[in-house]
Amino acid sequence: MSQNDLYCFLILFSLGNAVITSSDLLELAIDMAQNVTTKDRFVRLLNTIRNIIPCDAVVLLKRQGQELKPLAQTGVNPELLGRRFEIQFQPRFKVITQSQVPVRFASDSELPDPYDGMLQGIEGDLPVHACMGFPLYADEQLIGVLTLDSLTPGVFDEIPAKTLEVIAAVAAASLKTAILFKKLESHTEHFQNVVSELTKEALIKDGGELIGKSLPMQKMQQELGLVAPSDFAVLIEGETGVGKELVARTLHRKSNRAKGPLVYVNCAALPENLIESELFGHVKGAFTGADKDRAGKFSLADGGTLFLDEIGELPLLAQSKLLRALQSQEIQAVGKDQVEVVDVRVIAATNRILKDEVEAGRFRSDLYHRLSVFPICIPSLRERLGDITLLAGYFIEQSRRKLGLVQLLIDDEAIEKLETYDWPGNVRELEHVMNRAALMARSDKQMQKGMTRIKAYHLGQLQRSTQVNKEAVQAVNLVADNTSQQTSVALSNLKEATEAFQTQRIHQALAVSDYNWSQAARALSMDRANLVRLAKRLGIEVTKQLKN
Ligand SMILES: Nc1ncnc2c1ncn2[C@@H]1O[C@H](COP(=O)(O)OP(=O)(O)OP(=O)(O)O)[C@@H](O)[C@H]1O
Ligand SMILES: [Mg+2]
Repeated sequence: MSQNDLYCFLILFSLGNAVITSSDLLELAIDMAQNVTTKDRFVRLLNTIRNIIPCDAVVLLKRQGQELKPLAQTGVNPELLGRRFEIQFQPRFKVITQSQVPVRFASDSELPDPYDGMLQGIEGDLPVHACMGFPLYADEQLIGVLTLDSLTPGVFDEIPAKTLEVIAAVAAASLKTAILFKKLESHTEHFQNVVSELTKEALIKDGGELIGKSLPMQKMQQELGLVAPSDFAVLIEGETGVGKELVARTLHRKSNRAKGPLVYVNCAALPENLIESELFGHVKGAFTGADKDRAGKFSLADGGTLFLDEIGELPLLAQSKLLRALQSQEIQAVGKDQVEVVDVRVIAATNRILKDEVEAGRFRSDLYHRLSVFPICIPSLRERLGDITLLAGYFIEQSRRKLGLVQLLIDDEAIEKLETYDWPGNVRELEHVMNRAALMARSDKQMQKGMTRIKAYHLGQLQRSTQVNKEAVQAVNLVADNTSQQTSVALSNLKEATEAFQTQRIHQALAVSDYNWSQAARALSMDRANLVRLAKRLGIEVTKQLKN
């Protein structure tokens, strides 16, 4: 075969292969519609094009301002992907990007080829070859370029314009999808980072450390360490101000979901008719006022933790809906037909004794069992021997920093006063007392320069209540010693007599239950919250007497 014959044969062979059928194009379109990753989509695009149009190199480039950045290639040295081509200095790219339709360069075109020296298997400048470029448009904006190179001159000449249009459209759609995906991915990543930053900040707000070395606190810390990494629902019980929310935050922070959101819901603050929508979301038009779709707290907590505070206040109807969501991990927005699968860990808290609520028919027993897979009962402050001083020190240090004081100390008399008070408002009350005392101490003219010291009188009214408490405890001790007949009271009417009897019985129950209000309430067959209310009305403030 002569040189000329060989050349003719090559052209014929190439043209023969370049006969593109509509099924090839259909295959290309279907292939691109597959749900694959961006990287795979590009590889498939280039391979399919290479199968349809015989060529030696295909390169997909994305426009970035005045540059073209190669995203995927076949047939060119891999280092190409590290290059950026400034359009104005690349004549072929300049022509392609200024065109609205695919451009076929003459085989003997004088314009330098951007891939000179990079085509696999070819050393140095590219010889005479076929080269074609597709400008890729989306919404009339140039978003990239697709180039085809073949060492066989003229090989692209016979491809019908319609075929080139289809290839350009598919490649542009593929690139547009990839750009959109990338944008969405980076938005999602950005928002995830924002969520985890905000969550982290909220979790360590005001220190966020769980202070306490008393035995009940050590036991609770151990329990927290055990349950935190699991996905079990946790029910946190305890009096007001004992640190239920802090424990919930600690649980989340120590869990495998720490990077996910911690979403807070105050069940007591939800209007009854909006509870379902708050928890599960709603679609536009689901009810009057629903002017747009709104995600519920469950959706927002997906991948993280949902903290249902004051769960004891949730009405029965809402309880059954919550139970269904917990059982199936599926939620249904109000007004929506489809269900949504969520991955949420629930932590609930209450200052009621939920078991009693179940017995009283105010709380569903099945929901109670579901939530209390792992119950954590936070002891009241008066049960935590030694923790009052520790916590006082912790809050003093916080105040010192907030107030910009060099040194803030507390004297022994003040500590004693703190230790003998019964703290019905628990840690929160102690925190407020210490903050107030720090302010009082700071403005005390008697303080030495540079040194601020909290004295007993800076603590305010605790002294009076302690005094009352001491008297009350003495009275209770008498009762407990079965010498109640000695506590004769002059009773002028039935109301006074009843109140005196109630006072006596409450003191007695408190003394017997070691001043644990929950236990005392059980002993009196009462709801704890009701007992506290009644005690308050009767003016009972009991301080546990420290045993020496
Ligand atoms: N062990 C602790 N260490 C440090 N700070 C604590 C501790 N327990 C509680 N606190 C602080 O006391 C305050 C009250 O705590 P928290 O809000 O968690 O109580 P709660 O049990 O949820 O109260 P309520 O029943 O009123 O909702 C918060 O400022 C919290 O940071
Ligand atoms: Mg709380």
